[in-house]
Amino acid sequence: MTTEDRGRNEMTRLQFEKSKAFGRRIEQLIPGGSHTYSRGRDRFPAESPNGIVRGKGPRIWDADGNCLVDWAMGLTAVSLGHADDAVDRAVCAAIKDGVIFQRSSQLELVAAEAFLSLTGTDMVKFARHGSAVTTAAVKLARGFTRRAGVAVPKEHPFFSYDDWFIGTTACDFGIPDEAKLHTWQFSYGDVASLHDVFRAHPGEIACVIMEPVKFEPPPDGYLQEVRALCHREGALFILDEMVTGLKLGVPGAAATLKAEADLYTYGKGIANGYANAALTGRGDVMSIGGLEPAGAPKLFLLSTTHGGESVGLAATIATLQRFADGMIVRQTAQTGELLRDRLQSVIRRHGLDAHLRIYGYPALMALEVRGPDGRPNAAFQTLFLQEVIAHGVLLQGIFVPTPSHGEAEIAATEQAFDAACPVLAQALAQNTTDGLLIGPPMRPVFRKHL
Ligand SMILES: Cc1ncc(COP(=O)(O)O)c(C=O)c1O
Repeated sequence: MTTEDRGRNEMTRLQFEKSKAFGRRIEQLIPGGSHTYSRGRDRFPAESPNGIVRGKGPRIWDADGNCLVDWAMGLTAVSLGHADDAVDRAVCAAIKDGVIFQRSSQLELVAAEAFLSLTGTDMVKFARHGSAVTTAAVKLARGFTRRAGVAVPKEHPFFSYDDWFIGTTACDFGIPDEAKLHTWQFSYGDVASLHDVFRAHPGEIACVIMEPVKFEPPPDGYLQEVRALCHREGALFILDEMVTGLKLGVPGAAATLKAEADLYTYGKGIANGYANAALTGRGDVMSIGGLEPAGAPKLFLLSTTHGGESVGLAATIATLQRFADGMIVRQTAQTGELLRDRLQSVIRRHGLDAHLRIYGYPALMALEVRGPDGRPNAAFQTLFLQEVIAHGVLLQGIFVPTPSHGEAEIAATEQAFDAACPVLAQALAQNTTDGLLIGPPMRPVFRKHL
């Protein structure tokens, strides 16, 4: 980095003093300082926005009054853009009539009809969080098959905060050993490794749950083979479209990959950030959570006070309407493609191809930062994100284009990368981030110790 570059870099940097004070205060009141571990202090560079005051479209404003382009979009949940007018109007209209009643509301029926007409599935049950519906899917599969085992791919980072899943991660502190006994791992994309799990636990596996895809497409026919294998073994196949739903296809990535499952789970983007999630799928499976036939065992499937609350349902109906014709998914893929091409040319211009890799589907891309040895490196990644953020772009490693993102956001991101690349190049040249990285490197959510 030349002296001139350094001077320009210093002049244009955002300051985060109030954000940092906010972070210190909130951690005294809320364990971890946030309600999602992936939004915590250890998941961002020290110099980052916090105490968010407002979001509109593709931008957010923080405690310091900084305005940043947002590519993280509320843990991928904000699928249209922050504070989308049409969705917010639908929510405002709904809350005027009350939000929760002692019997089912009209809105619960309308939301179910809208959801099922988009997904083409038989029945749906809504809940407020994704973890609730993935856990419910597992419970339903256990009830349907009368088996306990669950198989999950080890590459997929998160399905639920409940013990059956968290017990498989490094964060298994506080989870009894018994809760970990029935969840087994295999390798995504490798049918043979799933075969091995079925062979090791004959007649024990109730279901296989996976995301249809995580950035890189699976081998041709993979999801179809997994479903066939599950059925041969008497297990159910569950696809978790929490992240991929309405991003990689309508209703989700399974449609794009021409795959089918017995049950599907959705959340995040289906309500443009409002709290709603859904468990859906085959009627013969879903209906065992119902009230018939008389005398059958009663399966306690998703029964929560706020399960049918109007806000999330009104937001879902309005959001699904916008996605129904497939135009938005095509548009966000185009935005992502343009963004990727423009960022790749910045990266190339700075000679950093070997250290900055953008990969995945255009509508859901990730950035990998590699250190001097060419391997992913947390300190170098934190440094690069620190510089991108300092130049007005909130990026945590995943790009979520929405219809609210356009040329202005792409250009701003190009400029932020242009400013961040020389700093990364300098760190690579000196073989260390020392003197450039402010604060500690980001750390993984799932780790054994603090
Ligand atoms: C694939 C996947 N499934 C389930 C969940 C859980 O959703 P929630 O955070 O709404 O409980 C997440 C959350 O990140 C997820 O990414």
